Amino acid sequence: MTSGLVGDAGMNLANNERRMLKGMLSEPKKKWTLDQLLSVTGWDDQVHVAGAGKGLQEEGLVEIEESTSRLVSLGSEGKKAVDDRLLESRLWDWIRNQDESQRDMGSLMSSGFDRSESGPGIGILKGLGVEVLSGNLVFSNEEEISHEINLRTDFIKSLSGSSLESSTLDEDMVSHFSSRSGLLEFEEITTRTWRLTKSGYSVEQSELVENQVIGELTPEMLQTDSWKGGEFKPFDVQAPAPTPMGGRRHPMQSLIERIRSVFLEMGFSEIDGDYVQSAGWNMDALFIPQSHPARTMQDTFYLDQPTKVEVEDSYLDLWSRVHEHGHDTGSRGWGGKFDRQEAQKPLLRTHTTVNTVRHIADNPSKPSRVFGIGRVFRQETIDRTHMPEFHQIEGIIHEPDANLPMLISTLKTFYGKMGYPDVRVRPAYFPYTEPSAEVDILWKGEWLELGGSGIFRPEVTEPLGTEWPVCAWGMGLERLAMLILGLDDIRQLYQPDLERLRKMPLL
Ligand code: PHE
Repeated sequence: MTSGLVGDAGMNLANNERRMLKGMLSEPKKKWTLDQLLSVTGWDDQVHVAGAGKGLQEEGLVEIEESTSRLVSLGSEGKKAVDDRLLESRLWDWIRNQDESQRDMGSLMSSGFDRSESGPGIGILKGLGVEVLSGNLVFSNEEEISHEINLRTDFIKSLSGSSLESSTLDEDMVSHFSSRSGLLEFEEITTRTWRLTKSGYSVEQSELVENQVIGELTPEMLQTDSWKGGEFKPFDVQAPAPTPMGGRRHPMQSLIERIRSVFLEMGFSEIDGDYVQSAGWNMDALFIPQSHPARTMQDTFYLDQPTKVEVEDSYLDLWSRVHEHGHDTGSRGWGGKFDRQEAQKPLLRTHTTVNTVRHIADNPSKPSRVFGIGRVFRQETIDRTHMPEFHQIEGIIHEPDANLPMLISTLKTFYGKMGYPDVRVRPAYFPYTEPSAEVDILWKGEWLELGGSGIFRPEVTEPLGTEWPVCAWGMGLERLAMLILGLDDIRQLYQPDLERLRKMPLL
């Protein structure tokens, strides 16, 4: 429903538009800022100005000008520098109060400056012209250095407690401090101004009367029937509105819940286990040779405490036989001497396969389909695609007729339900499965590797007490999360960056 005709141009304006236009007509040639418009209209929410302004612009009555600027304020380090002074300023004082013969790195190290400060601090002083000559701090331009440090100090102080527009600040200072971490923060802001066009200021102010429209039905209106014959305010589904910033689950948690419901729907039950495990259950049970490179300290986090994780003798006996000569699995084993101490070393589990194997040992004659989603730990250098802690989606089918096609179709069904219908498997190698398969899914025309799978070898299943085949898989959760959330850096999943987290898609 629209309101009546206004002026000779015969325009249909909503009440908000009338109110804003009327306000602007009080000074027809003025460029209005947001605050001025809020005050002339009496609104307290800028959403009204944005909405009515847009409407008036579409009617050709108002022109909107947009400009962006950069606001600079102090970051956490910058605020610290205001209270404790800049690092260079403190170091500079120290140097000058020091006897010339004592201005050396050795004295600096024992001077009470933290290592985390003295290193970067010397870097900053070098930038100011201090030289380090055979461990001594030497300079010839004392005045200039002091002057520059004073300028920097004044600059930081000038930002204390306020944000200033970047263009009003000393460019060199801004560029210097933005190369130092945590000192400055930047915020892009867009400012708008509104101005009447020719047809805008030719509208007769007296004609801009706001219609009485019903915006909200109150209980009184319903009781007194006063709504009858009234004009109702239409809903404007296009109106700009604030984005609700309610709480939400972390995207990783939502993804885990989704995976969980897919497996439950497919008839699987969930299992879990401890982070701390024995090397025996994490590796020996899986017929991983005791000399395997993945078992070294470089790859695995071993623990000092507890000093040992006890493993039942019966399993140690069985694994010894299997590893040394194959026991009666038909295998020749790895040879050599099995180390029972090694098998009881405590570690942080390197894969969740330890849980499925344990589950079979505890339920050797019960057919089962189980899955688990859990955290695993490996010594990895952190980069775009690696973290020392990540999650695996693990599962097994343990029953008399389990077989390879069943494994593949299960994985296809799972990824299909997750929204990735194109799955392929490629031959692979794991010490504990035969055959073994790598699992890839198709994403934007590319095959991405998501994990490993296979049928457990008899060397694994026999000591566990079962003769049935076991379909097993262990998939990366973070890789999948990155695909789904459109990220190209694994670290983004775990940084507490609320802005980014809020914008991540709902799963
Ligand atoms: N445990 C393997 C990994 O961490 C994955 C896997 C699980 C492979 C089960 C085969 C069978 O990569």
